[in-house]
Amino acid sequence: MSKPSDAQSNKMWGGRFAEGPDAIMEAINASIDFDRRLAKQDIEGSRAHAAMLAATGIVTDSDAQAIREGLLTVLSEIESGRFAFSTALEDIHMNVEARLTDLIGTPAGRLHTARSRNDQIALDFRMWVRDQTDAAIDALPRLIAALVAQAEAAPDWVMPGFTHLQTAQPVTWGHHMLAYAEMFHRDLGRFADARRRMNESPLGAAALAGTSFPIDRQMTAEALGFDRPAANSLDAVSDRDFALEFLAAASICAMHLSRLAEELVIWSSAQFRFVALSDRWTTGSSIMPQKKNPDAAELLRAKIGRIFGAQTALLMVMKGLPLTYSKDMQEDKEQVFDAADNLLLALAAMTGMVSDMAPQRAALEAAASSGFSTATDLADWLVRELDLPFREAHHITGALVKMAEDAGCDLPDLTLAQMQSVHGDITQAVFDVLGVHNSVASRTSYGGTAPANVRDQIARWKDRLS
Ligand code: ARG
Repeated sequence: MSKPSDAQSNKMWGGRFAEGPDAIMEAINASIDFDRRLAKQDIEGSRAHAAMLAATGIVTDSDAQAIREGLLTVLSEIESGRFAFSTALEDIHMNVEARLTDLIGTPAGRLHTARSRNDQIALDFRMWVRDQTDAAIDALPRLIAALVAQAEAAPDWVMPGFTHLQTAQPVTWGHHMLAYAEMFHRDLGRFADARRRMNESPLGAAALAGTSFPIDRQMTAEALGFDRPAANSLDAVSDRDFALEFLAAASICAMHLSRLAEELVIWSSAQFRFVALSDRWTTGSSIMPQKKNPDAAELLRAKIGRIFGAQTALLMVMKGLPLTYSKDMQEDKEQVFDAADNLLLALAAMTGMVSDMAPQRAALEAAASSGFSTATDLADWLVRELDLPFREAHHITGALVKMAEDAGCDLPDLTLAQMQSVHGDITQAVFDVLGVHNSVASRTSYGGTAPANVRDQIARWKDRLS
């Protein structure tokens, strides 16, 4: 048996309680260790609420004034680290209100009129998630700009394009960089879209049913930067879609980050040497002096799992909860905090790595030229020049690849006579399409890898980013 807490029955809600909670009850119940991160939003929300209570005549101007000033003092105490958080006071709301009472006395007790911790936490958390959404919306264009800069520095360098991580066809470095720009731009759209939907104020829903006080929800919504008050009080206190949508957008973005991170790990290996990562984003080995490890990319690749986990965890918290608020919902925060921290860190790290990496032209081109990467170009030539059906051209090309493989050479190294032994109509002109530069230059279909297309796309991205 654990001992009861020393605390008296709770000052905020303890009217009907004869004794304080068991110490373990206090430990499981308290959220102050993590929801203190909502202090700024909590105080901002309370200040708007107090101003509204005065404007509607629910409290006097002088009480509202004392509350609003007192709250600024509390905020400065918290921000400067002078605030003594108390577990007995459970959460950020009651910690702030108790300190406000110390500072201004009786008027502090009027702040919670026409409000509940249910709409208060829904508001605080929503504003916090909105801030993180804005931070992601701010960070993504920087990453996209870094990718566009990489594309612009080497739009026409050739590299192997892969399917199944097997050499498929030559592509351009610029095209590969801009593929990621597309992904991160969709992420940007998802965050912006989630932000639009989350921007409704729950404040004034009170405990769950609204209030009999003549509050002005439009006023607090506007003061706090919301588009409108949420229309249904039951939904307002029990909705956590805003956090789930943030995590959904974050998860897809994180998945993109992990794919690029994986490519950086592969590309920077001694076997590939497609890119050199800068010293700023790598570490050495304590035993192997030659090592330059892509730790930032690896950590980023791994951290992504926390974001997926947060999404699953919050879905599990919310699933099956009857309307409206249940204490389960206190478990909505920690993983979202962690996910947001790690997403923003990952975005910043990736932006740094992309900006600093140096593609290695010779290694990229050598790899692009090996692995029979222009076999499709050869098949296309047979279709175009000899009017063969594509299936037959595919078969002939396959035989030529086999011949080159057996001879230990690549397609352009075969002689015309060897080629003609497979199909007599092949001419010297075929060698023009077997070079990787001609191959990429020929892929001019919209969205294709040709350097001319890449340059057009770079112009489009610069336009978009400005
Ligand atoms: N700490 C609580 C949470 O994070 C605040 C809301 C408490 N509401 C209540 N009815 N106990 O969810």
